[in-house]
Amino acid sequence: MARLVPHNVIMDDVHPDFMRHALSLARCGEGAVEPNPMVGAVVVRSGQIVGEGWHERFGGPHAEVIALERAGPLAQGADLYVTLEPCCHHGKTPPCTDAVLRSGAGRVIIGHLDPFPEVAGQGAARLRQAGVPVIVGCLEAEARFLTAPYRKRLRTGQPWVIAKWAMTLDGKLATASGDSRWITGPEARAQAHRLRGRVDGILVGIGTVLQDDPLLTARPPGPRLAARIVLDHHLRIPLESQLVRSATEVPLWVMHRASASPERRAALEARGVRCIACPEATAPAQEIAWLLTHLGQQSWTNLMVEGGSQVLGSFLAAGAIDEVEVYLAPMMIGGAAAPSAIGGPGAAALQDALTLAALEATPIGKDWCLRGRVQRPES
Ligand SMILES: NC(=O)c1ccc[n+]([C@@H]2O[C@H](COP(=O)([O-])OP(=O)(O)OC[C@H]3O[C@@H](n4cnc5c(N)ncnc54)[C@H](OP(=O)(O)O)[C@@H]3O)[C@@H](O)[C@H]2O)c1
Repeated sequence: MARLVPHNVIMDDVHPDFMRHALSLARCGEGAVEPNPMVGAVVVRSGQIVGEGWHERFGGPHAEVIALERAGPLAQGADLYVTLEPCCHHGKTPPCTDAVLRSGAGRVIIGHLDPFPEVAGQGAARLRQAGVPVIVGCLEAEARFLTAPYRKRLRTGQPWVIAKWAMTLDGKLATASGDSRWITGPEARAQAHRLRGRVDGILVGIGTVLQDDPLLTARPPGPRLAARIVLDHHLRIPLESQLVRSATEVPLWVMHRASASPERRAALEARGVRCIACPEATAPAQEIAWLLTHLGQQSWTNLMVEGGSQVLGSFLAAGAIDEVEVYLAPMMIGGAAAPSAIGGPGAAALQDALTLAALEATPIGKDWCLRGRVQRPES
């Protein structure tokens, strides 16, 4: 059934499968394009794809420009499906709207408008002014899902937070003595390394560093080299820890209180560690909010929080978790003293519990991967 949209464009010949394909192309840029959004595009003529592309790396050509170039003269009169509104300003590359107009594309179908202040509907308006019909909102929910971290940073100035942990069936991160290696099997651990390889930063608490001496790198490496961050009020991180020993190769940031020992700070800095003094806060959750704003100012888009229990509790208390990736092992540890996944103050009433939308459960090796996003009105 035909649906009229503004500017009297009829939508009955818009095919969501082409937008779905553009969305899957967009994902190929994950980890390489941030702080830009992932974007994909396809050029369709007489029901056939004649050009396609995605934004491949930060500073590189935009998806629609690549797709139109690949289509060449076949773009004339064709439909351009693009997951995000084409830009109309000079950024790192010239305006995409110019490339669309030069190509002679007959129609532009967009997933959603770009909230970037210099675009924000003006890209679509520019095309319409030039006589090109524009349809906005094809698979809009899916397109917005893809750009949620980008949009959060524009809206709040803070990165998207992915809390990742591995736990037993009874919700424990480790035994009472702190043994947690390994709760999950090699397949689950390999998948978690892929997540490490696409984020801007990986954060843990000093409790985890003292217990496990982790390296917190992606092995094998992914498209992005994440900085490692340790929350460590009193700079207790050992100079001989794997994190400090590798600080000259992979960035290591330690967030501490201003009152921590200056000698200790100097010793860490001499080993290549970046020490960040956090303003005195009345609650751990306030420190998290300060840190996230600080990371947003460095243009970070995605932060992975790997625990342990107290740190995850502070992120929960701060309302700072956007997404969870949990590995659930068919194993039970028991013991009241064994840390549960999320410590901190916790919710007082069930109505205050954090709930997730669209939880996905996938078997992985002997374990399960549970993924979901926190539902917020603005996302
Ligand atoms: N299964 C898993 O996925 C997984 C993942 C990670 C860890 N673990 C396990 O979890 C255990 C460690 O967890 P944990 O809860 O003891 O330690 P943690 O959460 O790693 O670290 C907690 C410590 O971080 C410091 N900190 C600084 N700022 C903080 C803030 N804003 N909020 C919270 N903490 C802050 C505090 O020490 P200061 O006051 O001295 O700074 C606090 O005691 C280990 O046994 C480890 O093996 C398991």
